[in-house]
Amino acid sequence: MKALLTLLLTSSLFAHEPVRARKAMVVAQEPIATDVGVDILKRGGNAYDAAVAVAFALAVTYPTAGNIGGGGFALIRTASGETNFIDFREKAPAGATRDMYLDKDGKPTRDSVSGWRAVGVPGTVRGLELMHKKYGKLKWADLVKPSVGLAKNGFELSYSVARGLKSAERQLGGFPESKRLYLNNGAFYDAGYRLRLPELARTLDRIAKRGPNEFYEGQTAKLLADGMAKNGGLVTLEDLKAYQAKERKPLMGKYHGHDIIASPPPSSGGIGMIQMMGVLDRLDYAKAGMGSAKLAHALAETMRRYYADRSQFLGDPDFVKVPVATLTSPAYVAQRAATITDRATPSSEIQHGPVPAEESTETTQISIVDKDGNALSLTYTLNGGYGSGVTAPGLGFLLNNEMDDFSVKPGSPNMYGAVGGQANAIAPGKRMLSSMTPTIVTKDGKLLLVIGAPGGTRIITGVMQAILNVIDFKLNIQDAIDAPRLHHQWQPDRLYLERGWSPDTAEILRKMGHTVETGAGGVSNVHGILVEDRWLQGAPDGRSNGKAAGY
Ligand code: GLY
Repeated sequence: MKALLTLLLTSSLFAHEPVRARKAMVVAQEPIATDVGVDILKRGGNAYDAAVAVAFALAVTYPTAGNIGGGGFALIRTASGETNFIDFREKAPAGATRDMYLDKDGKPTRDSVSGWRAVGVPGTVRGLELMHKKYGKLKWADLVKPSVGLAKNGFELSYSVARGLKSAERQLGGFPESKRLYLNNGAFYDAGYRLRLPELARTLDRIAKRGPNEFYEGQTAKLLADGMAKNGGLVTLEDLKAYQAKERKPLMGKYHGHDIIASPPPSSGGIGMIQMMGVLDRLDYAKAGMGSAKLAHALAETMRRYYADRSQFLGDPDFVKVPVATLTSPAYVAQRAATITDRATPSSEIQHGPVPAEESTETTQISIVDKDGNALSLTYTLNGGYGSGVTAPGLGFLLNNEMDDFSVKPGSPNMYGAVGGQANAIAPGKRMLSSMTPTIVTKDGKLLLVIGAPGGTRIITGVMQAILNVIDFKLNIQDAIDAPRLHHQWQPDRLYLERGWSPDTAEILRKMGHTVETGAGGVSNVHGILVEDRWLQGAPDGRSNGKAAGY
């Protein structure tokens, strides 16, 4: 009776069916790229082949975040249960220095956000190469080819991509090549326009025919390094040649009988997810019920404590010792949970926990499961929408502004308002801390969920809430993703409630001492695949123009 009532209540609250398929599924944030992935799977490619093709396709059809000029992470679980994490996060160029974005008075400039100096050494092509070499089946050239065709023959701009380009006038308009290619020289493009990107088509064609080294040592590398040298950028040919993607061991957590396969540093997501799920479990938060102020309070207090830790301890594990084991240990989790009361704790009263001295919101997500059960969650990014705003002349692709993800000045907020510490200070060759959180969940050794999101610092909290909605509230994957979310990141001390939370709940939270902000902006765009009853259920976030498709 109780189960039936829960079902009736939840189905009246949210009622969106996921896309279902028997064999394989692709979810990406732009529909043309999803179709490219499904086509590769139907032609005998596996999940990793499809991911390479989708990532290259997004680099054409989704210029806000799809890229070859940025970086990201891929979390892998093969059909045999092997797990791996491929880190292709950008790196600071060799010429970078700790205070490179401070003016003479020690104040942060805008250089980490916009323009040539904001660019980190791109990792995407090396990351896709590493994944393909280790796990792919089809030929590299055949996976890059669809993107060459899209750039050369053009693709029809959706309303959402056209509107996005128009709204990026400030970011793109100051750079002549970006203005010419992506803003139609200031005249903008309408939805339905067939956008051709011939320079990008030639770049991709070289990468298809000559292989990934073309990007790091070939004509592409030379043109990129030339552009940098002429415009005051720091990335050199040597930086490009030296760039390596890296395999890392995924983090493993447990939550209510499920195994959480999570992203290790330089992602801050896995530690966050495991710590926060542990705290929430101790608070027995789900009992309060979805949408309640009590539940929102538990989430917010848990989140603000983790983000205080994040800011103090997390950075590139090749440069700083990140206390992963401590931050996720039951003892530490219990200590954190014990400080939570039924009143909001002001963030000014919260410091990172006692850990021994070790230690656009625009990104995009691809989730794929193939017919054999190989799974992949890949998140990659230019950082802000359209990255640094710079298109290298002759190459046709946008470059990242990932340098802003370092703590440009410890204690000073970045473009997501996140505050960082020394662990994430700039150093040559170092990777900047990320919130990208590709995640896979299994139950009893079987694949259950493949999930991830774009959304800056809101990624971790967004992905976690969608997973909790599946595990604790038994929502179908589409409803779990579409349900209203909230976000707290310690600093600024603000509890953000998406549209959909009731004004009464917001009022109770204010009375509990929270500074509540509400708005139309989303807490990340989560995309996922759930495997259940021999069906694959694909769900793009209802907040996005994404697409799930399978066969
Ligand atoms: N650039 C967003 C992130 O990596 O967290």
